[in-house]
Amino acid sequence: MRVSDEDLIASARAARELAVAPYSGFKVGAALQTRAGTIVSGCNVENASYGLTMCAERVALLKALSEGARDFVSIAVVADTGAPTPPCGACRQLLWEYCGDVTVILGNLTSITARHQLADLLPLPFDGRFLKSK
Ligand code: THU
Repeated sequence: MRVSDEDLIASARAARELAVAPYSGFKVGAALQTRAGTIVSGCNVENASYGLTMCAERVALLKALSEGARDFVSIAVVADTGAPTPPCGACRQLLWEYCGDVTVILGNLTSITARHQLADLLPLPFDGRFLKSK
């Protein structure tokens, strides 16, 4: 059974508590939901080399894929910010590849602050269709 946006945001909030962000101090949590209602969450994991840092969205996505989850319908992203914290460009690209046009629910510690469709956040995406059309 599908969970509500509020419940998905609550999962992202709980994941955010586990963030490994000693360099930025910017903790992020994400929670992906499949059509069947399975939720897989993740937090950002930083690295002293900085560039190897993994965003919460990608941690959740790679966890989900590696556990066999497919057919995603929504992702919640939580940070402790007044303005909504949207997924970075790299995360948008990866989410598009494996989730398609999912609903992206953004929130903070107290509320849902925005909802978007991924297609609106990543217009004119590069994806596998181009590799087959040459
Ligand atoms: N970060 C995320 O986990 N997700 C986002 O949507 C934006 C940025 C993380 C990466 C890094 O650990 C910290 O936030 C600061 O950029």
